[in-house]
Amino acid sequence: MAIRPTSQNSPLETENQGNHPSSAIPSVGIDGLSFYVPGQYLPLEELAKARDVDVGKFHTGLGQEKMAVLSPDEDIITLAAEAARPLLTDIDLSSLDAVILATESGVDQSKAGAIYIHGLLDLPSSCKAFEVKQACCSSTAALQMALATVTLKPTKRILVIASDVARYGILSAGEPTQGAGAVAIMVSANPRLIAMDPEDGSYTRDVMDFWRPNYRDEALVDGKYSIKIYLEALENAFQSYQNESGRSIDDLYRFCYHLPFTRMGEKAHSFLHKKFGAGKPETFKQIEDSGIYNRQIGNCYTAALYLAITSLLENEAEDLSGKRIGLFSYGSGCMGTFFSGKVQAGYRDHLLTHQHQALLASREPLSIESYERMYQHALPIDGEEFQNPQHARGKFRLAGIEAHRRIYTADGPDHIPSITASAAELVEA
Ligand code: CAA
Repeated sequence: MAIRPTSQNSPLETENQGNHPSSAIPSVGIDGLSFYVPGQYLPLEELAKARDVDVGKFHTGLGQEKMAVLSPDEDIITLAAEAARPLLTDIDLSSLDAVILATESGVDQSKAGAIYIHGLLDLPSSCKAFEVKQACCSSTAALQMALATVTLKPTKRILVIASDVARYGILSAGEPTQGAGAVAIMVSANPRLIAMDPEDGSYTRDVMDFWRPNYRDEALVDGKYSIKIYLEALENAFQSYQNESGRSIDDLYRFCYHLPFTRMGEKAHSFLHKKFGAGKPETFKQIEDSGIYNRQIGNCYTAALYLAITSLLENEAEDLSGKRIGLFSYGSGCMGTFFSGKVQAGYRDHLLTHQHQALLASREPLSIESYERMYQHALPIDGEEFQNPQHARGKFRLAGIEAHRRIYTADGPDHIPSITASAAELVEA
């Protein structure tokens, strides 16, 4: 018999669990979601004009409008630390068991980026810090690791942060599907946003659809093949999920997919219904709100699915309390996981909706020339001392390099509406 934790269980309550040896399985899941993106973006109309492409291809064909562009003194560490800040203000830090960074834009071959984040956020030394990798779906592996740990230790919390910069290169086919961003996910027992179901289905196969060798800053991708493999992983992962959970498509009220570009969500949703929908066509209402933020930000790899979940919870007009959401995480190379969770009653009181919307609304558009200049900014690779110009609007900055060491500081201007203003102030503004 499958164990089905429910949100009503306190960590110390016992549920009737058949023959399961444990007597106290709490509900575990996502207690908080916070994202951060750079303060500037390239409008895709600008890119279309510069590349002599009909803008309909980007807006309709790919479903993208804006692409977040990193400033020279930002990287996945600063984005991740900014994303995590709002989730740390009202918790007892001694309850934090670990901070796990999921990324495919790592900054060091040995030292985990999570350690830099641990330092910037001044986390207690008892809190572990490490990094995980499997293209865009390591965030889901990290989430599942966190859920298992919190199930064993229900008084603990784990902070999972997905942070990435998607780079394919100027003039490449992938150029309009670039982007950058980080999502911080607080995992706890009795979560206030989504209680995760224990069942999942995964699919792993060694393929070369997208990869980035250590000597490159930009990913290599076989674009059309990567879409085919994404769908192959979806089909197989969903089949395993269905076998394990006994649930069908009809048991899922909304769907969030990994979104390298939002149109991919439509392709995935149609495909899933064609394969498993018993002749019933897909309803795009089931995915519409999950793409609103991704359309404005672009691909942020490991963070993309979690941005889609945040977008759904913050933008869907209907109260989703008690509804089950199907989730698909895809990492090229490849591994895909289909899983699900139930939205918790009162979830809206614990979202950062106004802060996130203010964060997006306060970004600056770039010209094509500024985008190309920023894109080409590179740090020295010989360890030479280097100072980055002040550009980032956040508190945390990659100030430069000294003797092969990355120097991070917490002395940025901190002009971030999501952190410096209260939700009430943002609503009034
Ligand atoms: N108006 C409306 N639509 C238009 C249009 C116009 N004027 N012109 C073209 N289109 C449509 C096309 O018909 C096409 O639609 P369909 O997909 O329904 O056929 C769509 O716009 C895209 O056009 P093309 O296929 O011609 O685009 P492309 O050859 O330039 O490549 C891409 C698109 C493969 C996604 C490319 O941008 C790319 O390689 N991106 C990076 C790889 C990627 O994102 N892969 C996704 C799966 S892998 C994954 O998910 C992991 C990850 O994060 C990378």
